[in-house]
Amino acid sequence: MLSRVSLVPLLSLALCTPIGTFAQMGLSIADKVANLRVLPGHADRVKFLQDDEFVFDFLHPETGESDGAGGHTVAASSTNFPALVGTGMAMTIGFLEACGYNTPHTHPRATEFNFAVNGTLSAGFLAENGARFVFNDVPPGSAAIFPKGVIHFEMNNGCEDMIFVAAFNDEDPGVTQIAQRFFGLPPAFVAASLGDIGIEQVAEWEAKIPNNIAQGTDECLKRCGLTRKTDQPTSQRQPRVAANALPSGFSGPPSAAATTSTNALFQAPTSSSVASSAATTSSSSSASSSSGNVSGGISVNDADGKPNPLIIGLIVAVAVLVIGYIILAVAFFVGRRNKRSPSGKYFRTGSDFSMPYESEKAFAPQRSTPYDPPSGTL
Ligand SMILES: *[C@@H]1O[C@H](CO)[C@@H](O)[C@H](O)[C@H]1NC(C)=O
Ligand SMILES: *[C@@H]1O[C@H](CO)[C@@H](O)[C@H](O)[C@H]1NC(C)=O
Repeated sequence: MLSRVSLVPLLSLALCTPIGTFAQMGLSIADKVANLRVLPGHADRVKFLQDDEFVFDFLHPETGESDGAGGHTVAASSTNFPALVGTGMAMTIGFLEACGYNTPHTHPRATEFNFAVNGTLSAGFLAENGARFVFNDVPPGSAAIFPKGVIHFEMNNGCEDMIFVAAFNDEDPGVTQIAQRFFGLPPAFVAASLGDIGIEQVAEWEAKIPNNIAQGTDECLKRCGLTRKTDQPTSQRQPRVAANALPSGFSGPPSAAATTSTNALFQAPTSSSVASSAATTSSSSSASSSSGNVSGGISVNDADGKPNPLIIGLIVAVAVLVIGYIILAVAFFVGRRNKRSPSGKYFRTGSDFSMPYESEKAFAPQRSTPYDPPSGTL
């Protein structure tokens, strides 16, 4: 703002002189955009820029790049290509590796027309609430349209690199990446929108959100003989500030060394953890002051992808219980057959049925075993 104000007089002077082109050469892109926006007409804007400033090099961009494990995009908008000021359009080129996936996003200010140059895109979009899902394979030479504001994605469905060309009807279309933005909201509110999965689970999932372009579906990767990289970069996640911070005592995503804290999720709910869970859903300020020990999330694999020993233990315990029930049922029926009276079919006494329920009580302590706090919790 300040620079715009101070540069306008300089600019109007510069435009009247042959050295005007030199005067604008030292300007930043932001200053150029600001100056172009206050010029009265299109002829003035043409005069302001050099010839070569009307060409954007998508193969050697200085800005506008989004890099991930599945490829990259290069965007030219009025924010990094001043010649677009006043034109009402912008463009992004996608360089997708095999199964490269432009993750779900919206453009808040533009409709997109996306042309598949030399590969087939799997492309889908969801418009507003109530609208049906639209999905297409877009072969080379075809283009898919994504109306302004819809959530959409494109994946290179082939096993070779491909290029797409996306045109936008706004010079600053904007991009809202769904996963990064959603999980960048205050953790307690994210957890509550997902049926209260627990803040630790929110943090764990958020930490995994890969940069765009990401790697695509399992089906595509398998078909192309690829395995998903375990180290997809995740630097495009929403930065935390005070208002969307993780609760104190839980400063960041679980690292491989911190998997025992994930195991805390399997502790039996105590009155204090129930209370803190309730507080979490009711207010973000109490959530950020309460502990991060909110129960809810359960996954078979822990943070570093290894099977969770507590889940395995739980499965074994349930299997033991089931086998026990089968043995009891067999014993019950064998016993009943042996002592069945002629009228037994119609005169079963309550004691006939009490056995399974009583034996269940006998098993109860065993069932609680998986919920015992793991030894050496944090
Ligand atoms: C598509 O074009 C790019 C750029 O020329 C090239 O790298 C890629 O291999 C091409 N893909 C196919 C399937 O031809
Ligand atoms: C929550 O867990 C952290 C470590 O995981 C621990 O330091 C803290 O005391 C726990 N808080 C409660 C209320 O259990």
